[in-house]
Amino acid sequence: MQELEYALQKDREDKLSSFRSRFYFPQHNGRDAIYFCGNSLGLQPRSTAEYFHQDLKDWQDMAIDGYWKAHIPWMTYPQSMLPILSRIVGAGENEVTVMNALTVNLHLLLLSFYRPNPDRYKIIIEAGAFPSDSYTVETQAKLHNVPADAIVEIHPREGEMTIRESDILETIHQHKDQLALVLLGGINYYTGQFFDIAAITAAAHQAGAIAGFDLAHAVGNAPLHLHDWDVDFAVWCSYKYLNGGPGAAGGAFIHERFVRDTSLVRLGGWWGNDEESRFNMEKGFIPKPTAEGWSMSTAQVFNMVALRASLTLFEEAGFANLQAKSRELTAYLSDLLKTLTNLKFDIITPAEPHRRGAQLSLYFGDQAKPIHKKMLDAGIVVDYRNPSVIRVAPAPLYNSFEDVYRFYNILRTL
Ligand SMILES: Cc1ncc(COP(=O)(O)O)c(C=O)c1O
Repeated sequence: MQELEYALQKDREDKLSSFRSRFYFPQHNGRDAIYFCGNSLGLQPRSTAEYFHQDLKDWQDMAIDGYWKAHIPWMTYPQSMLPILSRIVGAGENEVTVMNALTVNLHLLLLSFYRPNPDRYKIIIEAGAFPSDSYTVETQAKLHNVPADAIVEIHPREGEMTIRESDILETIHQHKDQLALVLLGGINYYTGQFFDIAAITAAAHQAGAIAGFDLAHAVGNAPLHLHDWDVDFAVWCSYKYLNGGPGAAGGAFIHERFVRDTSLVRLGGWWGNDEESRFNMEKGFIPKPTAEGWSMSTAQVFNMVALRASLTLFEEAGFANLQAKSRELTAYLSDLLKTLTNLKFDIITPAEPHRRGAQLSLYFGDQAKPIHKKMLDAGIVVDYRNPSVIRVAPAPLYNSFEDVYRFYNILRTL
């Protein structure tokens, strides 16, 4: 395991190994950098430029007609991605859409799903939620002018880094009479902990509350079954494991039981209106009977082109194959890291494969920043997150066992 030959042999046995050559890697000293930052920004598929060229050409040749006649008509561009995207999140095509960006979608869905009243107004979130999520929740609480104790944060126990599942369920139970919403990251961005979405959703429902998830770090990474898990809504971004490029359009899931529910409050725009009557110039918003009923504006096609290129690769690779490789790759990384004696750090991500995705979070204490700098200087692309954590995420679509070995080999000498 601690020899290069072991990693090379694993790569030879890996049926997905050829996908690596279909991505551009940043270069360091004339060779591919060790890129373990797909949890922040996924790499660019080599086919992306072709996809852009095709849409540019359609625009050039067809202008307005491209909405109907482009090779992927712009009118229904988001829909073209739903077959593969819905499989990645475990949903029906009618439950998923591509629109806006994550935080915008979170606000939009909270407008529908966080409807506090004097009895039920509390929101449970994880302590140390991603900043955008805590700003979202804070400002939604202000919007609704709810009491000051509305936001309930679940903390890890003293001396622990991750949150115990039992504490989440217990907190839900404890606040059940006033609970309106549970909003958690599917995978916590800092620790890499993959929450038990099904159990949390069931507990929220038992308490009479809504369960929503921010899947920024889970989509395209961990196995998701949003429909079967009965999740009410979820949002994600497309620029991490989905490789949709910087600022790519985000995604949203709304459970089937709500998509036809016209009594839900939502903000209307023409793109979410029934396609047949959209142009009738008549009063009365008729939301589409799918997750697209939450979209408002014209599809931002050029924010979706790279995502389409990448989703094609997901389709080809097969998501189950990617999952299997991901578990092996991350386990290999973890096993090698545990043999290091020259560096002092803790892997704070849960060790059980079903409680994590690709990412391992390494807690280095006050050495985190200098060690991070040394990693960058050595051609390792990983990111640092306050406090004291370096996140390392081998993405199964383009990372190899050799990458993991090279990473370990450099760390051995730091
Ligand atoms: C967990 C999580 N939530 C929310 C966001 C914010 O997403 P956006 O900037 O697309 O709104 C990010 C961005 O990295 C994130 O990691």
